[in-house]
Amino acid sequence: MKQKMKIAIFASGSGSNFAAIEEACKKGELNAEIVLMVTNKPEAFVVERAEKASIPVAAILPKEFATKDAYEEAILHALRESGAEWLVLAGYMRLVGPVLLTAFPSHIVNIHPSLLPSFPGKDAVGQAVSHGVKVTGVTVHLVDEGMDTGQILAQCAVDVVDGDEDKTAEAIHAVEHGLYKDTLNKLFSQ
Ligand code: GRF
Repeated sequence: MKQKMKIAIFASGSGSNFAAIEEACKKGELNAEIVLMVTNKPEAFVVERAEKASIPVAAILPKEFATKDAYEEAILHALRESGAEWLVLAGYMRLVGPVLLTAFPSHIVNIHPSLLPSFPGKDAVGQAVSHGVKVTGVTVHLVDEGMDTGQILAQCAVDVVDGDEDKTAEAIHAVEHGLYKDTLNKLFSQ
């Protein structure tokens, strides 16, 4: 058995993907260890989840830094101390900049709630519903300097439910948790 991959999760929302990954690590379904949870929103529910799971939290606020580079240097310092090898974005909602991209080349991964390249950016489920598409989905991809433009690693289609954003978001979340785990497992066993 290979050594567990050390991962840092970046999240700023409710953290259901964080919880699914944490659970998979605990059950041995994912050969990884979450060494840090990075957030730019200390009030987010994901922080509570991380604390309950005894995962160290780095709450680093962009507004406390003069530049994006300085903000990311502070994150990088915390990452170096944690020993993280991969950065796993799960609802981080910010573009990753050159400091982190250079420090972790091809080692940053994101999950996005649409079939990219359709509906990149914010509110992907709302975009799908308002365009009236019948099928949307989930994409796991490597992160580059663009907005949801990196190499696609895995995708799964999800039906739009009753033209309703909340119901569709729920169906998407249910798919995300399994797809992220499976894709990370593949990445970490290469
Ligand atoms: C997910 O839908 C993910 O695809 C997107 O942000 C959402 C995060 O949800 N990037 P959660 O906080 O993990 O529940």
